[in-house]
Amino acid sequence: MYAQLVKTEGLKAAEDMTPQERAFQERIDRNEKIEPKEWMPDGYRKTLIRQMGQHAHSEIVGQLPEGNWITRAPTLERKAILLAKVQDEAGHGLYLYSAAETLGVSRDELLEKLHNGSMKYSSIFNYPTLTWADIGAVGWLVDGAAIMNQVPLQRTSYGPYSRAMIRICKEESFHQRQGYDIMMKMAAGTPEQKAMAQDALNRFWYPSLMMFGPSDKDSVHSTQSMAWRIKMNTNDELRQKFVDQTVPQAKYLGLTVPDDKLVWNEEKGGHDFSEPDWNEFFAVIAGNGPCNAERLGARVKAWEDGAWFRDGLMAHAEKSAARQGALAAE
Ligand code: 3HC
Repeated sequence: MYAQLVKTEGLKAAEDMTPQERAFQERIDRNEKIEPKEWMPDGYRKTLIRQMGQHAHSEIVGQLPEGNWITRAPTLERKAILLAKVQDEAGHGLYLYSAAETLGVSRDELLEKLHNGSMKYSSIFNYPTLTWADIGAVGWLVDGAAIMNQVPLQRTSYGPYSRAMIRICKEESFHQRQGYDIMMKMAAGTPEQKAMAQDALNRFWYPSLMMFGPSDKDSVHSTQSMAWRIKMNTNDELRQKFVDQTVPQAKYLGLTVPDDKLVWNEEKGGHDFSEPDWNEFFAVIAGNGPCNAERLGARVKAWEDGAWFRDGLMAHAEKSAARQGALAAE
């Protein structure tokens, strides 16, 4: 398999690797976990920092479209569930920033890169949540897509990342179920409620398919990331699995997936479906989606508004350190 990729995708051949690089690749091929203090190629470290950092940013930016609905949830129970979900996303961000810090990058550096636009976060969070049904669609489709991508990442080669993913996936499953539960309620409600559910599906379907990244032919990192087991599947493989899993769920709700070309293909054992509009995807990840400025603005404001608290913590830490130093000197 690796030898084939060397031929077709230009990966470094074993004979061109240093002995250290070869030993590292052999460990990956044996499914061994790589731990923080162990030697790793610079490219492996860099790719992990990029992917884990973007993943962490996605979790905290992902709080914004849903947080917007906490005060407008239709019942106390729905409000409590949504609050728990949004808090979970903050926790996921924290595990992932902590896991990324084990690679030698600080949380402040990562946040600085989010704020100045030099690091990405998931395209999906640049779309607005216009109605309560959107909160259902986000849980069902967005968290559903996230799980499809993240369950395999529990087996990823970097130890701290794979362990963070175990807890995250458990919580994402609850998020997906709560979203589907909202959709079931809406789809079985009044004609107006069902129309809201259909409208939410119409608007979130293609952006959800885009979450898996560009088609394999345009994916820059997949081949090397898969050779290093940083990624376990290609973008198109996961997108196909997501469509095959989600179409029957839409049918159960009595809703229509907004794709005329969607059809079961017996021969391939999966659905044929229309690709998302990739021009739209590339515009969104370049910063020109419907809500990019609003989302980034909210994150930067939160950071700036928290300056007094960080300063207070630092002053307290410095004071405690000075006090301990004085005690030790006595
Ligand atoms: N949104 C924004 N940028 C994206 C993207 C998306 N949906 N898909 C791809 N990109 C970017 C890549 O980051 C890369 O840009 P870069 O070189 O500047 O970093 C470029 O497009 C080319 O794409 P590749 O396929 O080469 O990139 P990757 O190999 O990194 O694959 C990925 C993209 C599949 C998203 C992969 O990074 C991945 O599996 N990441 C971990 C999971 C993750 O980040 N999930 C975020 C989803 S949301 C979430 O988890 C919150 C939950 O609560 C819902």
